[in-house]
Amino acid sequence: MRIDEGEHVAEEPAGRDAAAPTGPEDISEQVVTSLAGAPDPRLRYLMQKLVRCLHSFVIETSLTTEEWRAAIDFLTATGQMSTEKRQEFILLSDTLGISMVLDAVNHPAGPSVTESTVLGPFYVPGSPERVMGDSISEMEGNGAPALVSGTVRDVRGAAIAGAVLDVWQNSARGTYTVQDETQPPGNLRGRFRTGPDGRFWFWSVRPTDYSIPDDGPVGAMLKALGRHPWRAAHLHLIASAPGFIPVVTHLFDDESRYLESDTVFGVKPSLICHYLRHDPSDEGAPAGSAGDWYTLEHDLVLAEVAE
Ligand code: BEZ
Ligand code: FE
Repeated sequence: MRIDEGEHVAEEPAGRDAAAPTGPEDISEQVVTSLAGAPDPRLRYLMQKLVRCLHSFVIETSLTTEEWRAAIDFLTATGQMSTEKRQEFILLSDTLGISMVLDAVNHPAGPSVTESTVLGPFYVPGSPERVMGDSISEMEGNGAPALVSGTVRDVRGAAIAGAVLDVWQNSARGTYTVQDETQPPGNLRGRFRTGPDGRFWFWSVRPTDYSIPDDGPVGAMLKALGRHPWRAAHLHLIASAPGFIPVVTHLFDDESRYLESDTVFGVKPSLICHYLRHDPSDEGAPAGSAGDWYTLEHDLVLAEVAE
């Protein structure tokens, strides 16, 4: 039997002693056996495993009826909160660390390859295509200007031409454009394509720590667990190039106070970067800006698709 094919229980389960009380394990076995005929082997395997894990949880914790009722009410509220714009189940998956574990299982980074992290709910496909050196900041009040740059390379260090960087981030107000109709739809979003030297550079602003939406059941859960809803400040990006495995990742600000306790467990040490502060009089200051500005330099390394 292959590990992912589930348990084929062909013959009838051995008859139980009619006088013996039926225990939780007997019922659990019956349920697992009832799934043995599922035609799709992967579905059979997943469902048998899931049922076993759930039953073990109930048995090992001696879960009470009231506790199970509370769990059902919580899941019902999570579904009722979810809309096209607000996916409460993804927030649940994120805050329980499932999204990050799933990502680690499915996208193990090879040595020196840029590590991945959660996509998050605020990615919108079709960001404006921009030219290197452009700014993704389309309005006043987004925050302190920051020049983000680096080189997209392969694992041997060679520059990758024609790599696309799809970037998005929040503003000094904490929100993403999709969360806030007062921002232009392209604000703090953009797509850039590298030239032959693999270099990228664009203006943005320094991102800020922000709270995930916590006015729903997931927020209530965090509160009940004594957890905060904050994410460490970051810039999101997806880097892709023909012949290479795309990476969905963040660059985190090393001065964030939430690096150790990011509420979705998204921080990996290799993704922590430094925003270097500059005075307004320093060479390269952005036009029309009177305050401090920042530079962040970070290379991205993509793994080749296996032949
Ligand atoms: C974000 O990075 O934007 C995010 C990720 C997970 C949950 C909420 C927000
Ligand atoms: Fe984010």
